[in-house]
Amino acid sequence: MRIYIEDNYEKMSKKAALIVASQIILKPASVLGLATGTTPVGMYKALVEMYNEGEVDFSEVISFNLDEYYGLAKESPQSYYTYMHEQFFKHINLPKIQTHIPDGTTGDVVAECLGYEEKIRAAGGIDLQVLGIGGNGHVGFNEPNDKLNVLTHLVDLSEKTIRDNSRFFKSESDVPRQALSVGIATIMKARQIVLLASGKEKAEAIKEMTDGYVNTQIPASILQTHANVSLIIDRDAAALL
Ligand code: F6R
Repeated sequence: MRIYIEDNYEKMSKKAALIVASQIILKPASVLGLATGTTPVGMYKALVEMYNEGEVDFSEVISFNLDEYYGLAKESPQSYYTYMHEQFFKHINLPKIQTHIPDGTTGDVVAECLGYEEKIRAAGGIDLQVLGIGGNGHVGFNEPNDKLNVLTHLVDLSEKTIRDNSRFFKSESDVPRQALSVGIATIMKARQIVLLASGKEKAEAIKEMTDGYVNTQIPASILQTHANVSLIIDRDAAALL
């Protein structure tokens, strides 16, 4: 695992954007795994700037997002569907048909989850997976538990995740209690992984995910067993290393 400690959020974001852009320059039809949340906002902004400068072309890229709230309308301002459109997709030349986000409005969860795995497989697997990390060590919405789901699944969000994500909703009670998330194996099968973390509220999770032990209570700790992971973190997130 390579660990890059950057001075601040902007530098972390730029470094991540450079890695994503390099991937696409080397392989224009790359399959990207994408994350939402506060952390990658700066990375998406930097990628949009590079696109506007003509430095990167997304026309052949295929993307798969990690997760989506269950039971939230796609058009809802808090859906990850809306987030991806607003933060990234509407600013670049990635054809909509090449983007994928789990359908949190599905009436058939099993078919949706199996279908999502199949679409990733048919695309040739993920070349580069971008991840954030929850304060509780989750990746995607793979929450701390005695057992971790291998494949895409419906998950009950933890109390901590509901509390943390309530900042995007009117109140905590408005936060969906469930989400569709890719599984641990879906993430681990990516050929390259870049995990971003910023801020002191992530320092404990970063320490625990790099401590030499795999612990299902810190789902990100399994990344220590992956051959090609880069951690790009700012000084605050690195404070306990
Ligand atoms: C988002 C996702 C989550 C977030 C994590 C950190 O698609 O899968 O694992 O990456 O909750 O969120 P932020 O960046 O908002 O702190």
